[in-house]
Amino acid sequence: MTSLTAIDFTETDLDALAGAAGKLAILVTDDGKLDPAGRRVNRLTKGAVARLVDSDRWGKVKVGEGFTMGFPAGLEAKALLVVKLDRRPSVAEARKAGASLAKFKGKGALTICTGATTRIAELALGLVLRAYTFDAHKSGDKTELEGALIHCAKPDEAKADLGAAMAVAEGVVFTRDLVNEPSNILTTQEFADRLEAMKDLGLEVEVLEEADLEKLGMRTLLAVGQGSESPSKVVVMSWNGGGKEKPLALVGKGVVFDTGGISLKPAAGMENMTMDMGGAGVVSGVMKTLALRKAKANVVGLVGLVENMPDGRAQRPGDVVTSMKGDTVEVINTDAEGRLVLCDVMWYAQERFEPTGMIDLATLTGAIIIGLGHENAGVFSNNDDFCKAFLKSAEAEGEGAWRMPLGAAYDAMLKSRVADMKNVGGRDAGSITAAQFLQRFVKDETPWIHLDIAGVASVKSDTTLAPKGATGWGVMALDRLIRDEYEE
Ligand code: BES
Ligand code: MN
Ligand code: ZN
Repeated sequence: MTSLTAIDFTETDLDALAGAAGKLAILVTDDGKLDPAGRRVNRLTKGAVARLVDSDRWGKVKVGEGFTMGFPAGLEAKALLVVKLDRRPSVAEARKAGASLAKFKGKGALTICTGATTRIAELALGLVLRAYTFDAHKSGDKTELEGALIHCAKPDEAKADLGAAMAVAEGVVFTRDLVNEPSNILTTQEFADRLEAMKDLGLEVEVLEEADLEKLGMRTLLAVGQGSESPSKVVVMSWNGGGKEKPLALVGKGVVFDTGGISLKPAAGMENMTMDMGGAGVVSGVMKTLALRKAKANVVGLVGLVENMPDGRAQRPGDVVTSMKGDTVEVINTDAEGRLVLCDVMWYAQERFEPTGMIDLATLTGAIIIGLGHENAGVFSNNDDFCKAFLKSAEAEGEGAWRMPLGAAYDAMLKSRVADMKNVGGRDAGSITAAQFLQRFVKDETPWIHLDIAGVASVKSDTTLAPKGATGWGVMALDRLIRDEYEE
């Protein structure tokens, strides 16, 4: 697993810039005037920085982005990166500037000098998140960020803010590592083990095994896993940092690999289904962040861990299974397995914890990718206020989220000839009928949000804060929601 690297802060020392080894980044404002570091480096480079800032090229550089000069004369550094950043940047701008610096990871020290007076920890967060690599299974040299020394006006303030920012980064990286991990390594057992290890952070972690799930009546969840050698599990993580109030419940789909089961998926692209535990990955990452920053809130995270395999013991299309709630489901398509896992875990979460709100996350449908691509997760909710609060948090964190409708006409598409419902509603409105299925397992009094993250959990090209692969989408939005709505 990736370890987060040492970031340190120091008071701006202009004399040190000439001799900074490795790579040097200066962050200059867009107001036409160079800040002190800009002026100093400009003098050392005999005017190169001023020429850059006066050029047409600089006009095209967006705030938070930069321009690299190799082996600059007058400096010890092997490369100089000049980044455009205002003195008081927004959160997004500071993170983006940090992300721009991540191209300087790899061998050698990184020295950063910024005239920005606020949000230095956000800059560090952007750097760490964008410098992330998943190279656990690559032999040879690793190109990780080795560390960075940030020169700024108020290093003590930045240091104090870094703790919370790094708690967020650790959570996001935990999620990404889980989502990127191949399925022969991240089995249900390995997943549960990695969650149990978080007991060291003060989280309560409880693993329910198949016999326990059988006793609870979680037949729809067990049916999904019955064709796999890996035992199905439900892991319950509790963080009790608040008062006596009931918790917020987070529920995640943790299909460690989704072959489709007997309704087997086509071979092309099936390898991407290692990420089908993305919902469980986000829940786990959020719990880690809450524990690391000792959040003053009560949150319980539940993940349903199963593997969907074809086998002599696997469930068949046409099978009728009884959920923990007692409702029966006709399994038309064994590839619509996520909802079968979630419905039992969601019901259990409500019965046991009576949560003040419940948010489930799942890489649930290919249809949400058709609808929203990789820019936005699908958001479904039975409660406008709850939903608005989440959308606000997602927007503040720059994580795309778009509300989708629910309604009785969609629910009617789940009517079954032989059971209380079918597990699929046909091709039309596939993401909505999946959400309608889940809503049948939400009590009327539970404010609920369903996040279909199939398009955003893992992506094929780099984003501002993540290299291609797992993004950790949702960790920051949910942490923000908890900070803003559940903590005093
Ligand atoms: N895990 C998939 C959804 C998925 C697709 C996630 C692509 C990420 C990328 C889910 O279990 C699934 O197979 N859904 C089916 C539902 C259908 C059978 C009703 C789908 O979307 O095709
Ligand atoms: Mn499936
Ligand atoms: Zn799936």
